[in-house]
Amino acid sequence: MKELEARIQADGRVLGEDILKVDSFLNHQIDPQLMQAMGNEFARLFAGQGITKVITVEASGIAPAVMAGLALNVPVVFARKSKSRILSDDAYTADVYSYTKQTSNQIRIDKRFLSATDHVLLIDDFLANGQALLGLKALADAAGATIVGAGIVIEKSFQPGRQAATEAGLSNIQSLARIAAFENGQVVFAAEEK
Ligand code: G4P
Ligand code: NA
Ligand code: NA
Repeated sequence: MKELEARIQADGRVLGEDILKVDSFLNHQIDPQLMQAMGNEFARLFAGQGITKVITVEASGIAPAVMAGLALNVPVVFARKSKSRILSDDAYTADVYSYTKQTSNQIRIDKRFLSATDHVLLIDDFLANGQALLGLKALADAAGATIVGAGIVIEKSFQPGRQAATEAGLSNIQSLARIAAFENGQVVFAAEEK
């Protein structure tokens, strides 16, 4: 998505070897117009596939997920994170390890908000190591829901997330921006797929 790539070039900052800071429009301050354009793009990419629900993980997935849900006219559910492992009959749970933050969280969705009749679109802000996406897939699988695909705002294609998700059986992963590399502090995008 050209508009997103341009924004990353203009306002993104490369930190160290492998982190892109985009807190001026995505991860801290949020640009609603850009979010809405991204939601519309997700709706276009996943049109006609019978999606009944968008699911994501708090916090940074919520903004793009809400805009996708608005454009698709379906509810949005965000998995909540907690440090502790609480067993519950009322919620689907999965463990998610964050390589970037080196912490582990349990993510959970109340069983009232996800069911076997749902056709879900998974949304997240970054695809890096893929752990968050695998956690969302685990929640959907636990509910017996059908996964239509995954929509990612920024994919770092040089990290193993896409391969991990694909190997886990997730198909139709669509990323609005795919970063092939960071070179001398500059972002190099992968060639756009049509
Ligand atoms: P994963 O998201 O693919 O599982 O990979 P990883 O374990 O590396 O990511 C852990 C957290 O770090 C995630 O946020 C992810 O969005 C974020 N992250 C990964 N790479 C980058 C990056 O290059 N830039 C930025 N800004 N964030 C990155 P989270 O723990 O879910 O937190 P939240 O932001 O949703 O609250
Ligand atoms: Na994040
Ligand atoms: Na995230």
